[in-house]
Amino acid sequence: MILVTGPTGNVGRHVVSQLTAAGLEVRALVRDPARAPEGVEAVKGDLFAPETLEPALEGVESVFLIWPGFAAATAAPVVKLVAAHARRIVYLSADVEDLADDERPTLFHQEIERLIRHTGLSWTFLRPGGFAANTLGWAEQIRQGVVRWPYGEARRALIHEKDIAAVAVHVLTSAGHGGARYVLSGPEQLTQAEQARIIGEVVGREVRWEEMPPDEAREWLLGSWGEATFVDGALATWRSFVDAPERVTDTVPRLLGRPALTFREWAGDHAGDFR
Ligand SMILES: NC(=O)c1ccc[n+]([C@@H]2O[C@H](COP(=O)([O-])OP(=O)(O)OC[C@H]3O[C@@H](n4cnc5c(N)ncnc54)[C@H](OP(=O)(O)O)[C@@H]3O)[C@@H](O)[C@H]2O)c1
Repeated sequence: MILVTGPTGNVGRHVVSQLTAAGLEVRALVRDPARAPEGVEAVKGDLFAPETLEPALEGVESVFLIWPGFAAATAAPVVKLVAAHARRIVYLSADVEDLADDERPTLFHQEIERLIRHTGLSWTFLRPGGFAANTLGWAEQIRQGVVRWPYGEARRALIHEKDIAAVAVHVLTSAGHGGARYVLSGPEQLTQAEQARIIGEVVGREVRWEEMPPDEAREWLLGSWGEATFVDGALATWRSFVDAPERVTDTVPRLLGRPALTFREWAGDHAGDFR
């Protein structure tokens, strides 16, 4: 039995559908049963309320964990509970540095990785760079024909959420991944302005890039995300990709035996979201 957290999210929904397509027994952790994916057992629970998780973890062998939000406040008891029930965990982390035990984490993903490393679980960390799905945030602007956002020249190797899910499923269903930290990316580096143009081409609309001053973006992001440390970290990372593009890794083709999906393929899969 595999417990999938975040089953209504970008990655989790594909983990659920790919595992069920492979004939595996899947349970989905949901906050709202009305939003549960079809065709799988759904059990109610909340990662921010660890006392609600016991029923979902009963009889589970492996857990696919995603951590919502921007802070790891309840992660310690959650990881402890997972370790009391399951044998294996695949954690959807981010492309973070390895930290020694006495180093202070800069991102909550590092905190969660550390908690997991200190359990007896067999663990695998998936460390994707930017998700192609982040550009869904431009949908309304794409419809208007102008994307206004900072760092149009920032070059990223965005990954299709289906590829992250396919790697998760591969790791959950084959041996030899214990202790691996897999850095995942898409197959190519594209500037943000190019990403906007490609979405436009796919949906048949001319899309122009307009540079937004970083200070204005900071204000907007603070209103939307709340956490100032996370906002400043994200802006600094995006700025860094202007001079040093986000890296492309060979992990997806190496593990899956096929090329990683391109940004244009991603945009094709999501054309309806931009029309
Ligand atoms: N975006 C990027 O570029 C990027 C890059 C690297 C790593 N990541 C990491 O990837 C993860 C996000 O993955 P994603 O995009 O697939 O997620 P997502 O689309 O944001 O979906 C979040 C999922 O978590 C569920 N959820 C939210 N709060 C919850 C709670 N308190 N208890 C239980 N479930 C809860 C949501 O379910 P309901 O709302 O339906 O209840 C939903 O299924 C994050 O940890 C992020 O840091 C993102």
